Amino acid sequence: MSLASSTSEILAARTQMAMTLGFHIVLAAIGIGLPALTLLAEWRGHRTGDPVYRELARRWAKATGVLFAVGAVSGTVLSFEMGTLWPHFMAKFGQVFGAAFAMEGIAFFIEAIFIGIYLYGWDRLSSRAHLLTGIPIVVGGIASAFFVVTVNSWMNQPRGFRIDAHGNVTDVRPLAAMFNPATPPEAVHLILASFMVCGFTVASVYAVALLRGKRDAYHRRAFAIPFTFAAVTAPIQVIVGDWATRFVADNQPVKFAAMEGIERTQNGVPFRFGFLEIPNGLSLLLKFDPNARLRGLDSWPADLEPPKNVPHYAFDIMVTIGTGLVLLGAWALLSWWCRRDLPRSRWFLRAAALAGIGAVIAMEAGWTTTEVGRQPWIVYGVMRVDQAVNPGSGLTVGLYIVLVVYALLAAVTVTVLRRIARAPETAVGVATGGATDPDPGTGSGMDTETDPGPGAGAETETDTGPGAGAEADSADGREEARR
Ligand code: HEM
Repeated sequence: MSLASSTSEILAARTQMAMTLGFHIVLAAIGIGLPALTLLAEWRGHRTGDPVYRELARRWAKATGVLFAVGAVSGTVLSFEMGTLWPHFMAKFGQVFGAAFAMEGIAFFIEAIFIGIYLYGWDRLSSRAHLLTGIPIVVGGIASAFFVVTVNSWMNQPRGFRIDAHGNVTDVRPLAAMFNPATPPEAVHLILASFMVCGFTVASVYAVALLRGKRDAYHRRAFAIPFTFAAVTAPIQVIVGDWATRFVADNQPVKFAAMEGIERTQNGVPFRFGFLEIPNGLSLLLKFDPNARLRGLDSWPADLEPPKNVPHYAFDIMVTIGTGLVLLGAWALLSWWCRRDLPRSRWFLRAAALAGIGAVIAMEAGWTTTEVGRQPWIVYGVMRVDQAVNPGSGLTVGLYIVLVVYALLAAVTVTVLRRIARAPETAVGVATGGATDPDPGTGSGMDTETDPGPGAGAETETDTGPGAGAEADSADGREEARR
């Protein structure tokens, strides 16, 4: 098998793949989560008759349309890159995982068709029929994520084929490849990560608006729905993350050694996190035995182990942010428990405003852990990256072109989304955002502690939180709609 001409060309191919995937994964995550949020808002509107919810659904649906279009472009680029950057990988194993990409294509088409019907169907379909057309969008988004992840999990745990004495792939079983042992933890982890990224990102946009004093029912609900959605997902994600970690420890021990920074094989491995060190902690956590023996990086030949630092720091970043997001959700839960309302402290809103970017960083760190931790393999234990890459020259030039095109694509996407966000609301008349704000301009009214105004007190009583609170808010919303 031919090898790549130089290390710099391999690096260029890997950088291009990492950059385009890193861009696409954010769009894909929002594309999976936003239809679910939109449907949730529309369903609330359908049940309560409150136009604020319908307005929210309408706006989020427009954003879904834009992000879906950009995601389709960046996803198409990725599929070309699979062939141009990794031709030997595609030629040899395309028959094994091709079925998963075909299924992903079908799910993608279903999603695309129903996004069209959903957007066109506003004011044309009955509200019940319109609500129902949203369901295939959610199902299609989750299904396409699932099928794509099966390919990645197969790269971590290759199954469903044999390699004969001449090095040819035989006895191909696409279903066994798709449902390999890594698929359950990876797929569940990624779908939950998408919900978290989408929920916290959308919530962070409205947290900023609330901090700026836009405290009307529209903005409060626009914050409460995605925040609650993401905060409920966060603790489940930690449990699934623990499952994924144990799976990696059992099935890709070299990746686990890199993730945890275990240099040498030993009994009673300490748990290290930043400056913290708990003697025997990792052995205890992983094997429930403080003296358990864990393999270190020294038990593999140096050319078959991943880089030491990148998976380790990426894993720590993901876990730190994941834990922080659970604590943020716990803060909200405590407040809801005590007074049936989300916290009104500006510190809470500041933290919520940062949660979106935090969730995106956690997701990128997760991908980095998975991908860099698998190095030097493209298919774990079967094919190395240098055996898969395009042996031709010019990959570095391709990388520069892709960098410029993606920077432009990102700028256009942000501009269009900002326009959608700034367009005046059609149904609820809250464009100024100050209708119910006792202290418009400064935004200090958000903070119960610092807001002595009578309006703030009245609002604290009427707005009772994301669940029951949304119900209580509906009268408030209808009042605003009339105004
Ligand atoms: C807090 C506890 C968490 C733990 C213990 C954890 C654990 C892991 C592990 C072990 C992997 C590597 C899986 C593999 O290579 O097969 C992984 C990957 C990943 N993580 Fe996490 N994670 C946590 C939180 C998060 C959060 C909060 C996000 C994003 C919001 C996230 C997003 C990802 C992604 C996108 C991947 C790569 C794809 C996948 O394996 O599904 N993780 N995580």
